[in-house]
Amino acid sequence: MAITITIANEKGGVGKTTTAVNLAAGIALRIADHSDSSNRVLLVDMDPQVHALLAVAYENHQNTPPVSLAALLTESPPPSIQRLIQRSDYHPNLFYVPSERAAMIRAARELPALMANETRLARALAPVQNEYAYIIIDTPPNTGDLLINALVSADQVIIPVETSYLGVSGLIELQRTIEQVQTHFKPQLHILGYLPTMCEEQRSEAREILEEMSKRYKKLMLPPIHKSSDLAYAHSSHMDVFTYRPPRSPSSHNIVSSSRATREYAELIDIVLKQTGFRKSAREG
Ligand SMILES: Nc1ncnc2c1ncn2[C@@H]1O[C@H](COP(=O)(O)OP(=O)(O)O)[C@@H](O)[C@H]1O
Ligand SMILES: [Mg+2]
Repeated sequence: MAITITIANEKGGVGKTTTAVNLAAGIALRIADHSDSSNRVLLVDMDPQVHALLAVAYENHQNTPPVSLAALLTESPPPSIQRLIQRSDYHPNLFYVPSERAAMIRAARELPALMANETRLARALAPVQNEYAYIIIDTPPNTGDLLINALVSADQVIIPVETSYLGVSGLIELQRTIEQVQTHFKPQLHILGYLPTMCEEQRSEAREILEEMSKRYKKLMLPPIHKSSDLAYAHSSHMDVFTYRPPRSPSSHNIVSSSRATREYAELIDIVLKQTGFRKSAREG
């Protein structure tokens, strides 16, 4: 069974997509030498803006097939997900479900009136659960059926929080949504952690917020991701940061380069692999 991790925060511009892309790519690199069925990662982009897909499959994304993620969510019966999934540009074991903006906006509008509207993604993913070690889901910056579907499909949630005053206050709504999903669909849904993003430690307000966050979230507080031009440039170059700033001699044990961003996301990946019980002993090669 794949471990499914949803990246959520109902606010935009907090680092969700950056985290989804770099988590998916970094996990794919870290587990690349595991045997075939246990080393694959699938990225699902539930945001109609499809920015996450631009980072893993920019070329391919230019000609999205007519059948895409929106069809999985709205059609009865849905198309087979196996036939939709494509390989990413930079990592042979990273795959994605093609998606397209207009179709996803339509799907978001149609979903509330459809039967089983909250569980459609979970059911679409069921047939490929054994083909992937991890499924990473990016989400749109609002509540609604696209976010609910992403949460119902998840085992774990990572909540990126922009390290600013605004960021910390906006989480009550998301926590309520997660509780609702736990109550009605998935009692085992678990918050893996709160991830401080775009941290500027030299600013005293950022330090205060980090302190406030660790008081509030205690063990659920993840190590911060600092503001880094590498992350911004990787994003605008349609790459994950491990592709943009690769280590000199890449191997699955060494995905860190001189770029601080690679170190910080690699640390997050180690925490994620550990907390989700990924077995190192299964390693091959
Ligand atoms: N740690 C970071 N340092 C610098 N820029 C970042 C960082 N995290 C995200 N960004 C940039 O900030 C913008 C918003 O980030 P994004 O991940 O798209 O947020 P969201 O998906 O929550 O809307 C993007 O242009 C992205 O490249
Ligand atoms: Mg986003």
